[in-house]
Amino acid sequence: MFDQIYRKAVLTVANNKSVEGLVRKQAWGVAQRFVAGETIDTAIAAVQDLHKQGILGNLDLLGEFVDTPEKANEFAEQILALLNAAEGKGFPIYASIKLSSVGQGLTVNGEDLGLTNARRILRRAKALGGFINLDMEDHPRVDITLAQFRTLVGEFGHDTVGTVLQSYLYRSEADRDSLDDLKPNLRIVKGAYLEPATVAMPNKADVDAAYRKLVYAHLKAGNYCNVATHDESIIQDVKHFAIAHGIPKSQYEFQMLYGIRRDLQKSLADEGFTVRAYIPYGPDWYGYFSRRIAERPANVLFVVKGMLKG
Ligand code: FDA
Repeated sequence: MFDQIYRKAVLTVANNKSVEGLVRKQAWGVAQRFVAGETIDTAIAAVQDLHKQGILGNLDLLGEFVDTPEKANEFAEQILALLNAAEGKGFPIYASIKLSSVGQGLTVNGEDLGLTNARRILRRAKALGGFINLDMEDHPRVDITLAQFRTLVGEFGHDTVGTVLQSYLYRSEADRDSLDDLKPNLRIVKGAYLEPATVAMPNKADVDAAYRKLVYAHLKAGNYCNVATHDESIIQDVKHFAIAHGIPKSQYEFQMLYGIRRDLQKSLADEGFTVRAYIPYGPDWYGYFSRRIAERPANVLFVVKGMLKG
């Protein structure tokens, strides 16, 4: 319950325009712990650094809720530029996109622009031997994102495109079952948006239990699972579950956010697990940064201290 109240308070304050102005101006130094710079070059350098430590990267150009076709197309062009820039840099090409950023919900030439742009991005990613994950956003977008995921897996295959399920949503267990025929590559997360109790579990213990259930079901079905969490007890349980059920390390990986639990990322990589850090970059870092702060009370102090230091 405290988690919910805290998250709601931080996200409500963060939505205030004057707070945004202040944080954007004063907190960039702190934000750089979670965001790998504002340009493609800084993002690629971050992947290369992690790669040296045995950790893979998952690049994410930040940006949300684009409202015109021009902006959506421009955003898609920037992702294509990222893929092109990452070619031949010595690491596997892997990126995440939010369909809302590339035009989901805008109809152009009789088709959803998010789908059209996702196809352009996937065509390029496939040609480069890369992989694109479709991030999951707030609950009104789940139906359309899963439908578009189904279409895209049909066209590009499950080794080129994956998506995400959020354990806080009551619907996710049924969604996972319904996707099984695709043998989908799924990232399981707890969920980062402010959602009403009618659609998302308000109690953290329920979200954690649902998380384990989703991962176990996905692994048991023989599918590839991206276990995306910093929750050490879940990570331990997944390792034990995999051993008990004879699931090889090649069928799953651990994913964490850039700058969070770097110690744990390194120790899992040293144990021989595939570990991938989600590396956000770009000038539009504020929304992402607010969600990370809303996840953990200690992070507010971290930000305030950083802002006071100037
Ligand atoms: P939980 O919040 O219970 O935290 C467990 C422990 O992790 C904490 O006690 C703390 O030690 C540490 N921790 C967690 N968050 C921290 C933070 N911000 N700063 C410092 N320590 C922290 N969500 C979504 O809705 N759609 C998506 O597509 C994605 N994609 C995604 C990709 C990847 C790779 C990750 C890791 C996460 C996401 N998420 C996401 C975010 C996810 O839904 C969730 O909000 C965060 O991962 C935090 O939840 P945990 O599972 O880490 O557990």
